Amino acid sequence: MKTTRMMKISEPILRRGSLEDIEEITGIENRAFGKHAYDYPELRYMLGIANSITTVATVNDRIVGYASVFFRKNSRISHIESIAVDPDYQGSGIGRALLREVENISIEMKCTKIVLETFEKNQSALKLYEGSGYKLVEHVPNYYHIPYDGSRNAIKFEKNIEMK
Ligand SMILES: CC(C)(COP(=O)(O)OP(=O)(O)OC[C@H]1O[C@@H](n2cnc3c(N)ncnc32)[C@H](O)[C@@H]1OP(=O)(O)O)[C@@H](O)C(=O)NCCC(=O)NCCS
Repeated sequence: MKTTRMMKISEPILRRGSLEDIEEITGIENRAFGKHAYDYPELRYMLGIANSITTVATVNDRIVGYASVFFRKNSRISHIESIAVDPDYQGSGIGRALLREVENISIEMKCTKIVLETFEKNQSALKLYEGSGYKLVEHVPNYYHIPYDGSRNAIKFEKNIEMK
């Protein structure tokens, strides 16, 4: 049983997300972020109004993770607004697959750099970004409203991207 699931997890199917996925994405967001989760109106903005592209990872047609990247007019810098994987599926390579897809999308959108912020105590996120070639560019004190592991500080990362 476990082996079967692991085989499927190692090959999540990625597709573009849309407003139609908001219920499932809200569930992932709440389970992954808890009290730090974006609320429904914020996710509706992210999926339906913002200049953004959302990718969802599915296993057996169920969404198990998502990533949303924002773009700005006349800017070649994209911004990862959110990336989250259902806790039951974390540590299986889905976060890394979503991050790679965000990078590919950003390149298609003619961006040359990706930026993001994360909590300074968010070990899994730090490991994901550091292991994917993101460079720490700034510590930002009290960036977040609600502390994570006792800290409201953020770390800003960036990565230069280019067509291979
Ligand atoms: C951060 C997150 C998206 C990573 O997704 P994931 O599918 O678990 O990550 P992957 O399996 O692709 O692993 C990526 C790296 O993170 C590490 N990692 C994953 N979970 C971890 C954990 N709980 N503790 C420490 N490291 C962890 C992995 O070891 C891997 O590093 P490695 O290749 O050097 O071993 C996921 O843990 C998550 O949704 N967390 C809650 C929401 C969040 O914090 N999002 C990021 C906000 S900026």
